[in-house]
Amino acid sequence: MTTRHFLTLLDLSPEELKRLIARATELKAIRNRGEIYEPLKNKVMSMIFEKSSTRTRVSFEAGMAQFGGHAMFLSPRDTQLGRGEPISDSARVISSMVDVVMIRTFSHELVTEFAANSHVPVINALTDEYHPCQLLADMQTFLEHRGDIEGKTVAWIGDGNNMCSSYINAARQFNFTLNVACPEGFEPDAELVAANADRVNVMRSCEDAVKGASLVVTDVWASMGQEEEQTIREKAFADYQVNPALMDKADKEAIFMHCLPAHRGEEISEDMLDDPRSVAFDEAENRLHAQKALLEFLLVTCKEEVAEA
Ligand code: CP
Ligand code: NVA
Repeated sequence: MTTRHFLTLLDLSPEELKRLIARATELKAIRNRGEIYEPLKNKVMSMIFEKSSTRTRVSFEAGMAQFGGHAMFLSPRDTQLGRGEPISDSARVISSMVDVVMIRTFSHELVTEFAANSHVPVINALTDEYHPCQLLADMQTFLEHRGDIEGKTVAWIGDGNNMCSSYINAARQFNFTLNVACPEGFEPDAELVAANADRVNVMRSCEDAVKGASLVVTDVWASMGQEEEQTIREKAFADYQVNPALMDKADKEAIFMHCLPAHRGEEISEDMLDDPRSVAFDEAENRLHAQKALLEFLLVTCKEEVAEA
């Protein structure tokens, strides 16, 4: 069997994702009870960050330490990655020394190429196209607050960006309807929408999108790498803010998520994160538990399955 990677949510089957999310909640309970559980003793993870991060870095680094392993931060600025060494060579070298590699970068193709040349599992920790680790935490958070998301409606408000594309994949894998409200010119990838046309609806009106929604989600107007578009985007997205008044138009049990960092006064109102319907800080904490479940899946469960085969 070939090495399993986690580059998008489609790399795991719906059943595997469901088990992983349930396991994340178990791992959270283990940690909350203060139990030591170290399935990754002596294992090493390389973390390649070409973009900034707080949650992703802290959660992966803490998760590896709690599992008895070690995480190593690599920046292209002070490795040969930033001086033009081919990705395929870097992948062969790095993966010959560590047990798992996590990459946050711009181009999704870079991560795909790294994975194709890696002897060990590669995890996408955000590219311009996808952010699948965040979706593991989001799905865990929904399950913990509201139960199974299957058959529910989720409203995505704002940019058709990397998070939105991962929500489209989640709609497919977890079987829910996704309403995307975005301004013209900022729609999610057309091919991805077409491939999931049975469960994804793209519209202009935020009010229409949140109708009947059990979960309302948004993200920044300008993602990392789009800083120069900030002014244009502020104009284009002016009507795309999640606030308590918009939440009032969703299902009465609706909750609100944001992957963070958030810009108060832009994609959310000043008071949205303090609204009782916001679970954004639980969502952030769940990055730790969901990614520990992912590491256990890739480094323990998949290896056991190969040994048994
Ligand atoms: N949500 C998220 O990925 O946060 P960071 O950019 O801080 O890692
Ligand atoms: N869409 C945002 C997500 C940050 C976690 C970005 O790519 O910057």
